[in-house]
Amino acid sequence: MKALILVGGYGTRLRPLTFSCPKPCVEFANKPILEHQLAALVKVGVTDVVLAIAYQPEVMHELQSKLSAKYNINIICLQETIPLGTAGPIAAARHILQPNPDEKTYFFVLNSDVICDYPFQEMIDFHKTHGKQGTLVVTQVDDPSKYGVVVSSEQHEILLFVEKPKKFISNKINAGLYFFASTVLDRIENEPTSIEKIFPIMVKDRELCSLILKGFWMDIGQPKDFLIGIELYLNFLSIKSPESLIKGVKYLGDVLIDESAIIEDGCLIGPNVCIGPGVKIESGSRISSSVILAGSTIGAYSWIHESIIGWKCRIGRWVRIEGLTILGENVQVKDEVYLNEIIVLPHKKVKKSKMIKGKIL
Ligand code: GDD
Ligand code: MG
Repeated sequence: MKALILVGGYGTRLRPLTFSCPKPCVEFANKPILEHQLAALVKVGVTDVVLAIAYQPEVMHELQSKLSAKYNINIICLQETIPLGTAGPIAAARHILQPNPDEKTYFFVLNSDVICDYPFQEMIDFHKTHGKQGTLVVTQVDDPSKYGVVVSSEQHEILLFVEKPKKFISNKINAGLYFFASTVLDRIENEPTSIEKIFPIMVKDRELCSLILKGFWMDIGQPKDFLIGIELYLNFLSIKSPESLIKGVKYLGDVLIDESAIIEDGCLIGPNVCIGPGVKIESGSRISSSVILAGSTIGAYSWIHESIIGWKCRIGRWVRIEGLTILGENVQVKDEVYLNEIIVLPHKKVKKSKMIKGKIL
């Protein structure tokens, strides 16, 4: 079976991290977001994955070779010359998704920024029970206005699909995971267009059904949601594979640490913290609800809360970082600096405190 992953967005809402690499390559819980999806697809027998790329192709190609060897899977990169949106790439990949036009095939299409316990086998099984053109996974959220909203019948047929509605319709939303029969390809042109505009037409033709997701879900394409996603995912790991989380006097609640990271004495880390490879946390530091990406050093007696520290950053001693501060790659923060609600672009040196929401450009 085949799958297409939409990896082409510019990831603007996850800047400054996405200045260094495309959103699907940013490590979520110490693995590129894309890897979480690939690993789950392989488990249900997917052998070929198309990555629809539009941004930073060289970084995607590097990850493609690494993951294709690791999971023994055929990964094909389809480079867009202009961004084709969320549907155009499906038409562009028609020759791979349905190699023989006379033979009906089935395939997955995924948004690359959603994290959950992917229900891929359930999607295949459910699709067989209704036999329509598409299955769309649905989840419930508190604020549906930033998603595609779905209303379904008791028989799971989708009756209404509205992308980012201005008025409240329902709190059930499109989770960004689809399973299609190849007949859907007849609806899509090989040009910039979005699948969210095709869904209402499929709904009118009664060709789309919804599968309700069990368990956690998050679109991690924005810093706040990225950190909420980490909390949900670590909680999931604490139930499914508690051995993957670290325990001990230095740790509080759910904490995931790469084995190459060094945590010195007197630190208190957690809850809801991910620490990447090669990270060093010097003595007496306190870190909670945060992500420290690969190769960074946190100086002694620093405090980091609800923030993301990008790759290879150097944070001085007695530093305080909080309020959804996001540091890009290779940022240096001087001793005793306080940052609250600040976005710092890659390769910057921060010498002074900044406490009012803003950017260091
Ligand atoms: N190849 C390619 N080309 N991929 C693209 C392009 C493009 O031009 N534009 C966006 N994508 C990819 C993004 O990288 C992402 O993986 C996916 O398509 C969805 O784009 P987002 O920009 O993340 O959309 P969204 O989060 O605002 O809304 C979508 O996802 C929600 C669930 O998270 C919609 O599908 C909503 O209906 C849905 O509820
Ligand atoms: Mg998104």
